[in-house]
Amino acid sequence: MNAILNRKSLLLLSLLTFSGLLKAETWPPKVPFSYALGMAQYVELCSSCHGKWGDGSDQGPPLMHVFYKRSHHSNASFHRAIMNGVKAHHWNFGDMPPIAGATEGDVKSIVRFVRWLQDKKGIK
Ligand code: HEC
Repeated sequence: MNAILNRKSLLLLSLLTFSGLLKAETWPPKVPFSYALGMAQYVELCSSCHGKWGDGSDQGPPLMHVFYKRSHHSNASFHRAIMNGVKAHHWNFGDMPPIAGATEGDVKSIVRFVRWLQDKKGIK
């Protein structure tokens, strides 16, 4: 009896550990060095509203959302959003202001990071 219980709890424990590890492996993902700059700029300029991992906040929508996949919102629309701001139209968070201080280079590396993150999240 005890032996069975032990075997069962061992199995349960290893399942839990394994699924925990799997989860930690996949989300949030480990950011490769080549995306670190984009992530740093994203965190500084975007995460207060769109969340650290693009999961949204009470100030703005998640960018890890099918609305924002490549075929719905192109890189050019990201560029426009950052430079000109966005009038609220999909959500009820209010308008997105133009992001002061974002350069063309920042936009490029931020968009590259966001696309990478969307791929990791399986948003295609
Ligand atoms: C002050 C809050 C705030 C910040 C900071 C912010 N956003 Fe937004 N953003 C919003 C809100 C709110 C919307 C949703 C507007 C709507 O209702 O469709 C939005 C929408 C967008 C959209 C969709 C544009 C469209 O055409 O519909 C993109 C892309 C985007 N944000 C990217 C970014 C990026 C990249 C950054 C950082 C450089 C950023 N945002 C910073 C609040 C913010």
